[in-house]
Amino acid sequence: MDLEKYKTIKSATREESENFDKIRCNNVYRPIFHVTPPHGLLNDPNGFCYFNNEYHLFYQWYPFGTIHGMKHWMHLTSSDLYSWQEHGSKITPIEQYESHGAYSGAAFIEDNSAYLFYTGNVKHGNERDANQCLATLHKDNRVEKSSHNPIISSFPKGYTGHVRDPKIVKKGDLYYMLLGAQREKDLKGSIIIYSSNNLIDWSLKGELSIDIDADFNEAFMFECPDLLEVDGKDVLIFSPQGISPKQEKFHNRYNVVYCIGKIDWASLTFTVTHWDELDRGFDFYAPQTMANSPIEPTLIAWAGTDNNLPSEQYGWVNCLTAPRKLSIQDNKLHQTLVPMNEHNAKPSLASSELASGEVIRLESLSFSLDIDYAQASNLSISIFDDFDHEFIFTVDNKNNKLVMDRTHYNHNSKEYEFGSIRYCTLTEESNALTLLCDQSIIELFSDKGRNVFTSLFFPSNGNQYLKITFDEISEIKATLQYINKI
Ligand code: FRU
Repeated sequence: MDLEKYKTIKSATREESENFDKIRCNNVYRPIFHVTPPHGLLNDPNGFCYFNNEYHLFYQWYPFGTIHGMKHWMHLTSSDLYSWQEHGSKITPIEQYESHGAYSGAAFIEDNSAYLFYTGNVKHGNERDANQCLATLHKDNRVEKSSHNPIISSFPKGYTGHVRDPKIVKKGDLYYMLLGAQREKDLKGSIIIYSSNNLIDWSLKGELSIDIDADFNEAFMFECPDLLEVDGKDVLIFSPQGISPKQEKFHNRYNVVYCIGKIDWASLTFTVTHWDELDRGFDFYAPQTMANSPIEPTLIAWAGTDNNLPSEQYGWVNCLTAPRKLSIQDNKLHQTLVPMNEHNAKPSLASSELASGEVIRLESLSFSLDIDYAQASNLSISIFDDFDHEFIFTVDNKNNKLVMDRTHYNHNSKEYEFGSIRYCTLTEESNALTLLCDQSIIELFSDKGRNVFTSLFFPSNGNQYLKITFDEISEIKATLQYINKI
């Protein structure tokens, strides 16, 4: 079994390749402008950067099935962050130092060169080892592993083999590498930091002290650390595992948090002025921000984390979120969609045509819906089909809550351990929502992007409908735009 699970795409047989082609051609559940794997399993976005006049993105990819097997780095490029050209596996784990997968990592761009840092995952029976590795992305899109690999061999004393997901930042003349880690003494999550003056030779500086007593401190592992500046403030993003639910937060198997504050490199302390969960939905994990972004700070994440999803029967599973611009307002992180090229959107519904409760048959499940609503309109948006499947978003004006309910899209009974309703308290003055739907993923932006919900759903292939309900006396403005294949 392990031999099967830990093989690379290079060993694909003719029969397997033919099957891959069949999977690639099947469109059931496949989003048209969100990144999906051609076959197999996608997880974290990796190496997200702007380099050589293009956007580059990689993701964790297991080509042979919908399980977490031998991870490769699939490579994509784009000029608009929505239409992506696929280039195949560019980090294929064939070396001893990555014998069980090329795990996640990030890009670092300097002087017109693009460096990709990643973790070589190694397993000896039940024991795990982790090597930090480097590769160069060339202008002709070749990726070349460094002859110095591994640049950090194994994991430091005081930590378990769970040390991974390098992110590089530069301060003054020094480069710093942040890594997600697990302490040996209490088996809790942490972030450790190495420094270097040449990107090749690294020495351990210590552990990042996150200066706050927060819920995430109970986690057993921090994955995928990211650090960037947004609107003049330091923002630390990571994916802690093992936090129990607290009020409206942390209702998924794995969750993501952000901290706004200030990092002090001398004392390795991050002073937190505000922290929160990054996304309120069901399916959002391991986000990564773009290195060398020519636009605003931009983030993309893995929409998935659960098993037994219906697309598995078609040979692929999971997708990435749409790209999101980050900003800070009132010391809170806001996420809004990177605008799409106008020619990809086909205007459809104008608000004046809309009566409360009117059922609109959807031409396609790839659309954006913008709604401006009045304070007390008791808005409810429902996407449903002929088989009693229904996805509902409700603004509960009395309690000032936004509720996302996918109880009637019961696609994965196991997942319902974690409940089928998510909600948040609305905080902003804004009464506007944007709902972006793409075949089997929905992203809902509310509160000017302060509260965002990401969710997968698996509709039947029959008719799909939209119904918007609101108090008749109030006015709402709705714009529905179908999005064409990009
Ligand atoms: C997060 C993660 C990373 C790891 C990768 C392996 O989803 O577990 O920590 O590098 O996925 O695919």
